[in-house]
This record gives sequence, C-alpha cells and structure tokens, in this order.
Amino acid sequence: DERINIAIDGPAGAGKSTVARSVAEALGYIYIDTGAMYRAVTWSAREAGLDIENDEAVTAHARKLDIRLAPGPDGQVVLLGGEDVTSRIRSRDINLHVSRVAAIDGVRIRLVEMQRALASAKGVVMDGRDIGSHVLPDAELKVYLTASVQERARRRHLEAGDALGISLEQMEREIEERDRKDMGRAVSPLLQADDAVLLDSTGIPADEVVSRIREMALEKL
Ligand code: C5P
Repeated sequence: DERINIAIDGPAGAGKSTVARSVAEALGYIYIDTGAMYRAVTWSAREAGLDIENDEAVTAHARKLDIRLAPGPDGQVVLLGGEDVTSRIRSRDINLHVSRVAAIDGVRIRLVEMQRALASAKGVVMDGRDIGSHVLPDAELKVYLTASVQERARRRHLEAGDALGISLEQMEREIEERDRKDMGRAVSPLLQADDAVLLDSTGIPADEVVSRIREMALEKL
C-alpha cells in the first residue's frame, strides 16, 4: 500500500482547509478538518449553557458527544449526534470561544484519539494546529502553511466578512488574538514541527499552493 498521511498545520485563515481539501481530492485521499471538531465541541458546550472556563464540565460534555465528519455536496459536513451543525460552528461566537475550549487537556485527549483512529489506515490529509507536532508525528509529509496576518484577514473577510458582520480591521485583531491563544497554550500549542516544510502563501494563489503540496506528496510515494 502506497498511501501516506499528510499533516497541514498553521495559524487561522492561512487557507489550510481549502488547500487540504483540494490536495485530498487530487490524491483520492480523505480530508479531515480537526478545527471543525474543536468548533463542534465549543458550539455544543455553549448550546448546553456550560461555563467554558470549567475544564471538568466541558471535558465530561466532550466525552459524551457523537461527532462525525461526512462528505457533503459542498465539502465536509459536521454531524453532532446526527444533526448537521456545519454552518453553525462557523459563527463569530465560536471564533471567539473555540481557543479556550481547545486549551482544555481533556477535550484534546478525546479529539486526538478520534483523529488518530481516522488516520490509522493512511491516505488522509488532516489540517489543524498540532497535527504534525502531536497527533500524527509519523506523517510522511508535514506542511506548516502560513501567510501574513493582513492577507489572512483579507481572505477571511472576503469569504465570510459580511456574514460575521465585522470590519477587516476587527477581523485582523480577532485572528491575531486566536493565534496568540493557540500558540500560547500549555498543551500542544500551534508550532511548526521540526520536520515540517514551511510554506508562506502570501501572494500565492491557492491552486499553486495545492500543486506544490501535491508534488511534495508524490515525491514521498
Ligand atoms: O482551523 P480552525 O480555525 O477551524 O480551528 C478552530 C480552532 O480550533 C483553532 O483556533 C484552535 O483553537 C483549535 N484547534 C486546535 N487544534 C487543532 C485544530 C484546531 O487547537 N488541531
């Protein structure tokens, strides 16, 4: 079996999910968006009225959740107990709270276990923050995808700015704040793994980023 695992990590808005999805498609691999899992836990915890500062309560809640990622007509669909929460987990409220929930050790243990199980048969493109450094340390290809904060904010704003109802400047501040939390947390912070290839996509169109990663993947086969 020639299949490999590919880890794509990086800060918010670097285009990881767009790129990871296209790379997976090009190779006939399965795409797994781990950020969606942390978002689903955050959405559900807030929906249940939990205090997200309460690690024990959020961990116990996360353990009970049935989270599934399924292919849908416009990309990946996130199912929580069978309910489609795909668009609900992309709200500004979730953007503002997900990094707090993702800093809870018990939540990470539960989700990392799921992520490793999903990748065990290989042939997976997984995007997140700690995939190359912690979840799949043996991934054959690791990419750390980044871009300037201005460009990341601009892309996000083009994509969802109106829906989120915030200015470009506010988007930039909120992206920086989320990166600061994700890089600064005690457990599995966002960082470039020693053996990850750094790819700065500032000014590079997504299709070119995809073809570069695809080429790197083909070299590993
Ligand atoms: O990738 P996305 O922006 O959807 O991720 C949402 C949040 O989930 C991140 O800001 C981070 O707090 C958390 N996350 C994480 N580890 C991952 C993926 C996402 O902590 N592997």
